[in-house]
Amino acid sequence: MHAEFWQARWARSEIGFHSPQVNPYLLRHWPALALAAGAKVLVPLCGKSVDMAWLAGLGYQVVGVELARQAVEDFFIEQQLSPQISEEGAFVVYRAGAVEIYCGDFFALTAQQLQGCQALYDRAALIALPPEMRERYAAHLAQVLPVGCRGLLVTLDYPQEQMAGPPFAVPGSEVQQLLGAAWQLECIEAADVLGDNWKFLQRGLQRLDERVYRLCKV
Ligand SMILES: C[S@@+](CC[C@H](N)C(=O)[O-])C[C@H]1O[C@@H](n2cnc3c(N)ncnc32)[C@H](O)[C@@H]1O
Repeated sequence: MHAEFWQARWARSEIGFHSPQVNPYLLRHWPALALAAGAKVLVPLCGKSVDMAWLAGLGYQVVGVELARQAVEDFFIEQQLSPQISEEGAFVVYRAGAVEIYCGDFFALTAQQLQGCQALYDRAALIALPPEMRERYAAHLAQVLPVGCRGLLVTLDYPQEQMAGPPFAVPGSEVQQLLGAAWQLECIEAADVLGDNWKFLQRGLQRLDERVYRLCKV
């Protein structure tokens, strides 16, 4: 998926992936990660997710990364925050309170920019990318995040031939293949969510499974 694809989606407000509610898996499983107060959390491909505001409200330092300026600006407007804006390398960085969002390409993010990062929250990031980009994404995450980093990953799986992504189907075997070398992985919840997703039912899907993984970088 190229930058223009996502910029156009945001420009047309085609953001069916956005939820106005905090993700229920995040609510349920984040506390068990037992992160230190004030830990830095990377939220890749963050959109304008309210999950970032929730994490910041718990006292974490949130680092989002998002291509679309529209998404970043909407986040701060909707959260009623006035960000400081600066240019840093390949990014325009927006900062307010405990949230900073790097507006630019995730693949340009450096380990130095994520120094001290202790956690990762991926909801609709890995599954937003086509197969070859998923490989690059996993390799880049492994490169920029420090050992000991913990987190949650939420994926979708369905018969890929029944629908074109995004979101893409990412089966458990692929999660293991992409992330298994750099991360300890545990699937901690799996749910059949087809009945809750009428749009996907209309598009002809016969199965839709959501899975949540706990990760720890080794
Ligand atoms: C499916 S949305 C998910 C957004 C968010 N994680 C959520 O749960 O609402 C994927 C987001 O990734 C952004 N994106 C796609 N490719 C990107 C890249 N290479 N670098 C940064 N952001 C990217 C898109 O603009 C889009 O907002």
